[in-house]
Amino acid sequence: MARKFFVGGNWKCNGTTEEVKKIVTTLNEAEVPSEEIVEVVVSPPFVFLPLVKSLLRSDFHVSAQNCWVRKGGAFTGEISAEMLVNLGIPWVILGHSERRLILIEANEFVGDKVAYALSQGLKVIACVGETLEQRESGSTMAIVSAQTKEIADRVSNWANVVIAYEPVWAIGTGKVATPAQAQEVHAELRKWLHGNVGAEVAATTRIIYGGSVNGGNCKELAAQPDVDGFLVGGASLKAEFIDIIKSATVKKSD
Ligand code: 13P
Repeated sequence: MARKFFVGGNWKCNGTTEEVKKIVTTLNEAEVPSEEIVEVVVSPPFVFLPLVKSLLRSDFHVSAQNCWVRKGGAFTGEISAEMLVNLGIPWVILGHSERRLILIEANEFVGDKVAYALSQGLKVIACVGETLEQRESGSTMAIVSAQTKEIADRVSNWANVVIAYEPVWAIGTGKVATPAQAQEVHAELRKWLHGNVGAEVAATTRIIYGGSVNGGNCKELAAQPDVDGFLVGGASLKAEFIDIIKSATVKKSD
C-alpha cells in the first residue's frame, strides 16, 4: 500500500489574528495536488485553532501543537485531548523537540501523551530526533529508537500515527539534513518498526522529515524512498509552503 504524502505546517508560537487570516487566504487560493496525492495539515497556536478551522479550505486539516497527557481537570494552563475532539480538531503534534528539550518532556511522558490522544480519537504527529551532540557521538539511532520505543510500548494501532523525524540541529537553523542523511534515518526507523512492531506497521506508517525544509530543498528530499512528507516550521508561514505541498508530485509515479 502506498503511503500518502503528508505535509504539515507547524506555525509554532507565531502569528496575530491578521497574520493568521493572511496565511489562510494564501493557502485557500493555492492550486495544489489533490487529496488523493497529498494530505495537508496546518498547526496554528491553540488560540487560533477555531478561527483557522472555520476559514480553511475543506481539503486541508488542522492540528494542535500539544495536548495534556490524560483526561482534563485541575491542570492550569493545559489543553486536553477531549477539548480538541470537542472542537473538531483531528490532529495533534506531540513530542516536538522544543517541548522535549525546553520543557523537559521525557520519552515516557511523550509516549503516554501519544497513547492518550489516540485513545480519544485524535491523530498524532509524533516527533523524534537527535541533537547535534548526539549525532556527532554516533548515537542518532539509539536516541530516535528510544524515543520511538516509548510510543511503541503504549500504542497498538498505528493507523493514526505519523512519525516526524526532526533532527534538532536542523530545526530553525537553515542547516537542512542532506537527502542521504534523512533517508538513512528514515530507513533505519522503518527497520526498527519492522523488527519491533511489525511488517505491516513498518510498511504503512508515514515517516516525515522536519528541519529547515523550504521551497528549494523539498523536491530532492521528497524523492527519497523513505521520506513520506514533511513537517515544516518557518517556511509554513510563507507562500513557499505551497511549493513544499507540491513536492508531493515527486512521488506520483510510485
Ligand atoms: P523549521 O522548518 O523552522 O526548521 O522547523 C521545523 C520544525 O520544528 C517543524 O516542527
